[in-house]
Amino acid sequence: MIAAMDGLAGQVALVTGGGSGIGAAIAESFAGEGASIVLTGRRGFALEEVARRLPGPVHCAVGDVRDPVSGQALVAAAIERFGRLDVLVNSAGIFKITPFPETSLEFWDDVLDTNLRGAYVLSHAAWPHLQATRGQIVNISSVAGTRGFAGSSAYCASKHGLNGLSEVLALEGRPHGIRVFAVCPGAVETAIWAEEDAATRAKMMRSEDVAELVRWLVLSPRGLGVGPVVIDNFVNPWAG
Ligand SMILES: NC(=O)c1ccc[n+]([C@@H]2O[C@H](COP(=O)([O-])OP(=O)(O)OC[C@H]3O[C@@H](n4cnc5c(N)ncnc54)[C@H](OP(=O)(O)O)[C@@H]3O)[C@@H](O)[C@H]2O)c1
Repeated sequence: MIAAMDGLAGQVALVTGGGSGIGAAIAESFAGEGASIVLTGRRGFALEEVARRLPGPVHCAVGDVRDPVSGQALVAAAIERFGRLDVLVNSAGIFKITPFPETSLEFWDDVLDTNLRGAYVLSHAAWPHLQATRGQIVNISSVAGTRGFAGSSAYCASKHGLNGLSEVLALEGRPHGIRVFAVCPGAVETAIWAEEDAATRAKMMRSEDVAELVRWLVLSPRGLGVGPVVIDNFVNPWAG
């Protein structure tokens, strides 16, 4: 059997970066499986726009994943609104191609704080609630978490760190019934690539492709542990 018969009915998912791109697509997919959704991000209007598309119960909570007080408040908002937390999706992230000599400490800290510290902050705040539900964490990492890309020192470091964190949390979660996944997409056509030309963007994966993989992971038989999953473009979007 590939998926549980009852999908995510009765479950609550908190999605960081839920106001756009991959996070929004995952929220939509989970809502289609019957989950109640907590959408988080810094821009309230973006969250509200996604919320209008979701079929089921949804709560929008504005917050910054870099800030532990904000992270606690986001998880508390989920518990207050829906009474439980079953799935945490860490999709909030930033990316900008920046050669190493131009990588300022401020930029480095911003990327690491958002992409890695943010996942720590939310996972740490959510952990006791996930223990209670034998819940799941999905970290949206990147192929840049599995190998290096020129011009992406901070981003690669953050995503390699995120894969390491995911592996340790998967081990520590196992005795509590908590599963932790790291999903590592190649180029996905989202706002992150706003500066790329339309032809290149057209050859990238869709956010929905990643969401479909994430949906499969969280619905997969609970006896399965799945290591970092790479989902990449069949054809290089930058080639000819
Ligand atoms: N697109 C790709 O090619 C690709 C490939 C591999 C991995 N990824 C990863 O996928 C994830 C989602 O990115 P995306 O491609 O969907 O781009 P996106 O549309 O720009 O989504 C990123 C989201 O993160 C939120 N965010 C950024 N900083 C935040 C902060 N400090 N606190 C809370 N929320 C924050 C943004 O919302 P606000 O600005 O409103 O806060 C935005 O909704 C990222 O982790 C990215 O690294 C993307």
